[in-house]
Amino acid sequence: MKYNPRLVTIIIKKYNNEKSNLLAILTDIQAEYNWLPPDALRLVADKLNVPLINVYGVASFYHAFSLTPRGKHIVTVCQGTACHVRGAPTVLNRIQEILNVSPGCTTKDDEFTLETVNCLGACALAPIVVVDGNYHGQATTQKAGAIIAKYHKKKTIKKPKKKSSRATSLKKTTKRRKSSVKKTGKKK
Ligand code: FES
Repeated sequence: MKYNPRLVTIIIKKYNNEKSNLLAILTDIQAEYNWLPPDALRLVADKLNVPLINVYGVASFYHAFSLTPRGKHIVTVCQGTACHVRGAPTVLNRIQEILNVSPGCTTKDDEFTLETVNCLGACALAPIVVVDGNYHGQATTQKAGAIIAKYHKKKTIKKPKKKSSRATSLKKTTKRRKSSVKKTGKKK
């Protein structure tokens, strides 16, 4: 969404231009834009008559606020211990592959921002993927596509490429040869 000073002014007015409502004002701006544009912070400082550095101080203190643009949908993949041992790294890899971004980055179409977190406090559901605040427990690489598709414009996600049957049969032959060498001590 493009920055609109009129919208930010309306938000500030809603809170009577009160300094004590700074947190609520920033929360509403963040809800509108999914981040806090610098122009909006300048306007807030001006209207509330507080130093800009104080506004930045509050904005950078809380994890819920972002000072960089974020996508329409926020995808968070837990990498805490419980999620990690139940396969969270592979789920994260699959989501990176689907969205074609690394954690901390936003897709080119500004649709998704991918983030990681160390424990969401719901370890019984591990591994967990959260999209826009919705928890998807017991996530797997197979389920990852369906989770993202729910929020994706295209609604369909390509399945990961399977290994070619030739590669699989070569692998099997090598395995068979190795076991026969072990038994006989000779190559066949
Ligand atoms: S480790 Fe993922 S929810 Fe606790």
